[in-house]
Parts: sequence; C-alpha cells; structure tokens
Amino acid sequence: MKRITYITAILVAGVAISVASCDSKREPGKVYMPDMAYSRAYESYAAHDSALFTMDPNDKGAKIFYNSMPAAGTIKRGELFPFPLAKDTNNYKIAGTVKNPFDSLSKADLTEAGRLFNINCAICHGEKATGNGPLGTSGKIGAIANLTLDQYVNMPDGQMFYSITYGKNDMGSYASQLTRAQRWSIIKYVRTLQPKKEAAAATPATGTASPAKTDSATAKKG
Ligand code: HEC
Repeated sequence: MKRITYITAILVAGVAISVASCDSKREPGKVYMPDMAYSRAYESYAAHDSALFTMDPNDKGAKIFYNSMPAAGTIKRGELFPFPLAKDTNNYKIAGTVKNPFDSLSKADLTEAGRLFNINCAICHGEKATGNGPLGTSGKIGAIANLTLDQYVNMPDGQMFYSITYGKNDMGSYASQLTRAQRWSIIKYVRTLQPKKEAAAATPATGTASPAKTDSATAKKG
C-alpha cells in the first residue's frame, strides 16, 4: 500500500512539473547564445535584397558584398591545385613538365580509375586502350589514339592531362565530367595498360622538359 502511494506521488509530481514547464506564455525559456540557436544565415540561392546586398566591389562596406563566387585563389576542400597551363598550342608542348601529383595509387584508387576509364574513355579507346572501343570500330570517329603505342608510352602525364582537360580534335574535354584527381589517376591507370617503357622504342614526345624521367617513373609504378 505504501509503495502505491509513493508511485502515485512521483507520477503526480512528474505530471505537475511537465505541465508547469509547458506554460511558456508567461515565462519563455532562457536561450543560451541566441545567435547560435537562431542563426542569421542568408540563403545563398534566395533573391538578394538589393538594399542590403551588392555585387559591385566598390559598394563593399556600405552593403554586403556577395557575388556567389569563391574568394579568388581558393580551392575546394580535397581538390587538387589547378592545372597551371591555359589552353594554348605552346602550352601543349610544355605540358609534359607538369608532374602528376600522384606518385602511385593504392589498389582501390587504381580500380576506381579503371572504372572511370571504362565509363568515360573505353567507348573510343577500348578497355585495353588500343583505340578499338565501340565508337572506334564504328568508323564514325576517325584516328582514335591507340594509347599502347610508343608515342603515348613516352608521352608525359602532364601532356596527357592537358589533352584530357582541354580535348584534342575528336576527343572532347573531360574537365567538367572528371575532377582533376580523377583525370590524373585515370592517366595512372592508362599506364597499367601500356607496355613497359623499357620495351618501347625511345621516341620522346615533342617539347617536353624531361619526358624520359617522368615517364619511366610512372610506367614502372603504373
Ligand atoms: C569520342 C571518342 C573519345 C573519347 C570518349 C576519349 N578519347 Fe581520347 N582520344 C580520342 C581521339 C580521336 C584522340 C586522338 C586525338 C588526336 O591526336 O587528334 C584521342 C587522344 C587521346 C590521348 C592522346 C592525347 C595527345 O595529346 O595526343 C590521350 C592521352 C587520351 N585520348 C586519353 C583519353 C582519356 C583518358 C579519355 C577518357 C577520360 C578519353 N581519351 C576519351 C578520342 C576519344
């Protein structure tokens, strides 16, 4: 009997407390650091009140400057540095001097690069990179590069990156489909499909600073 009285007393007290705490009209609860609880974030995609915001750098200070662009020179977290060369015939010639940021890839990364190659490139270049993918054999696109030839075995990573990034003749640019890291790692994967550098005849690609050095390193590590 005593027990039941205790339990009832506790229940009644509980109900009383919860009812009391709901009575927020008279005394709203205290908010610790209201700025954090109710943030004043502005929606980046909402229309901006022109009385508050400006896209004109000269109005900075008077209004909030916001042009939806990242600050100049910033790089997305996890993204690689931009390719330093713009699209230009002369830059193509010296593109080989730009080093592949990856010395070697883990097995998982190489498998992923292979998957991306098969999705994006094999349609023309073929899964073995010999240039006999379905579009290659269809005859609709001419002169698809056989990437297992000496010419491409000797082509430095940087020059391949240039062509994959800006496109070359019938090959389009892959800059918008593949991140920089994906493009560089696909090149590593292409190396695994090519014959070893040592076996290939030495016909260095034109205008590169040290193609032999860059290439033998990448060809060995694949
Ligand atoms: C639409 C067909 C097509 C697709 C898809 C394609 N390529 Fe090519 N690729 C070509 C052709 C054609 C050439 C020869 C361009 C030339 O030298 O005129 C070429 C050339 C190349 C070269 C040599 C570039 C040079 O500077 O001579 C590399 C490297 C290459 N492709 C890699 C790739 C990779 C990697 C992908 C996938 C991300 C890819 N290609 C997707 C058609 C294609």
